[in-house]
Amino acid sequence: MTAPVLSCRGIVHDYEGTPALRGVDLDVLEGEVVAVTGPSGSGKSTLLLCLAGILVPTEGSVSLSGIDLHALGERGRAALRRESMGMVFQYGTLVPELTGDENVALPLLLAGRPRREALAVARECLERLGVGTVGRTTAGRMSGGERQRVALARALIA
Ligand SMILES: Nc1ncnc2c1ncn2[C@@H]1O[C@H](COP(=O)(O)OP(=O)(O)O)[C@@H](O)[C@H]1O
Ligand SMILES: [Mg+2]
Repeated sequence: MTAPVLSCRGIVHDYEGTPALRGVDLDVLEGEVVAVTGPSGSGKSTLLLCLAGILVPTEGSVSLSGIDLHALGERGRAALRRESMGMVFQYGTLVPELTGDENVALPLLLAGRPRREALAVARECLERLGVGTVGRTTAGRMSGGERQRVALARALIA
């Protein structure tokens, strides 16, 4: 059997004493599609933030492609996220002053890809998602749906 791409063991998280997660184990295999479901307040967002290395859980470990997330510092986790994870947040987390192309190209630009090339890849990705029209529109002027598609393109680009 192949090793999981993403796994966590014994994730416990308390927000100032209030328990949100009480011991989560999860393995996600390559190509697998997993949905985390449950009522509001059951800890879904907390779990996803822990898996992404954005939130350090009170207890437990997370590994991505065999790398222990919490053995890395905050900068190391940010770099790993930029290179190996794509995220679409619940609320608009695009940079409002940047255009659609620039928002999508951001992970590539931060990784050092030449600007012209990064912007071309970004536009292609926006076109595939049916929102090539907002390539030159600043995020602050897009509709909610357009913003989420741009966020999806950004999540997929690396
Ligand atoms: N930043 C926070 N500070 C304090 N409590 C929080 C915070 N975020 C979430 N919680 C609490 O943790 C529990 C789980 O929340 P959350 O992970 O956001 O659930 P879900 O995404 O399933 O709706 C809830 O009881 C929520 O009120
Ligand atoms: Mg949530």
